[in-house]
Amino acid sequence: MAVEVRPLRLRDHSAVVALLDACGLHPRTRGRDSRSAFAGQLRSNRALYLGAFDGPRLVGMVLGTHDSRKGWINRLAVYPEYRRRGIGRRLVRACERALQGLGLGVFAALIEPRNDPSTAFFESLGYEPTQIRYVRRKLRQDL
Ligand SMILES: CC(C)(COP(=O)(O)OP(=O)(O)OC[C@H]1O[C@@H](n2cnc3c(N)ncnc32)[C@H](O)[C@@H]1OP(=O)(O)O)[C@@H](O)C(=O)NCCC(=O)NCCS
Repeated sequence: MAVEVRPLRLRDHSAVVALLDACGLHPRTRGRDSRSAFAGQLRSNRALYLGAFDGPRLVGMVLGTHDSRKGWINRLAVYPEYRRRGIGRRLVRACERALQGLGLGVFAALIEPRNDPSTAFFESLGYEPTQIRYVRRKLRQDL
C-alpha cells in the first residue's frame, strides 16, 4: 500500500506520541505534547501538522509552525523500518508548500548537535547549516 501524507487530527495523538518516543524525540506528554496542548496546536497550525500513513498506521510526521517571519520544521520523525524511502522528504516538502501558501519563504529546523543523520537529511533538501546557538528558558521543566 502507498504511503499517504495528510493532515494530522486529534485522534492521531496517541500514535504521534508513540512515534516520537520510538524515534528518540522524547515526547513531553505533560507539556507541549499533551493531548490538550496538541489540540490547541492543531487549531493554530491547521494543514501544517502532517502525518505519513501506511493504511491506518502513522509511520512519519512533521509539525510545521511559523512565527510570521520564518516557517519552522519541528518534530520530524519516521519509524526506522520506513526510513530511506523518501517519506521524510515528502513530509518536509508538503510542510514547506503549506507554509509557502501562508506567505512564508524561509524554512528552518533546529537539530541536536550530534544528530548527523538529520543534518545530512536537511542538507540533502537544500538547507544550509548555520552556527547559530539556540537558547531557551522554561517556566517549568516538564513544558
Ligand atoms: C531524519 C529522518 C526523519 C529522515 O527520514 P527518512 O524518511 O529516512 O528520509 P528520506 O528517506 O526522505 O531521506 C532523504 C535524503 O536525506 C538523506 N538522509 C536521510 N537519512 C540519512 C542518514 N541516516 N544518513 C545520511 N543521509 C540521510 C539522504 O540524502 C536521503 O536520500 P537517499 O535515501 O536517496 O540517499 C529520520 O531519519 C528520523 O526519523 N530520524 C529520527 C528522528 C530525528 O532525528 N528527527 C529530526 C529532528 S531535527
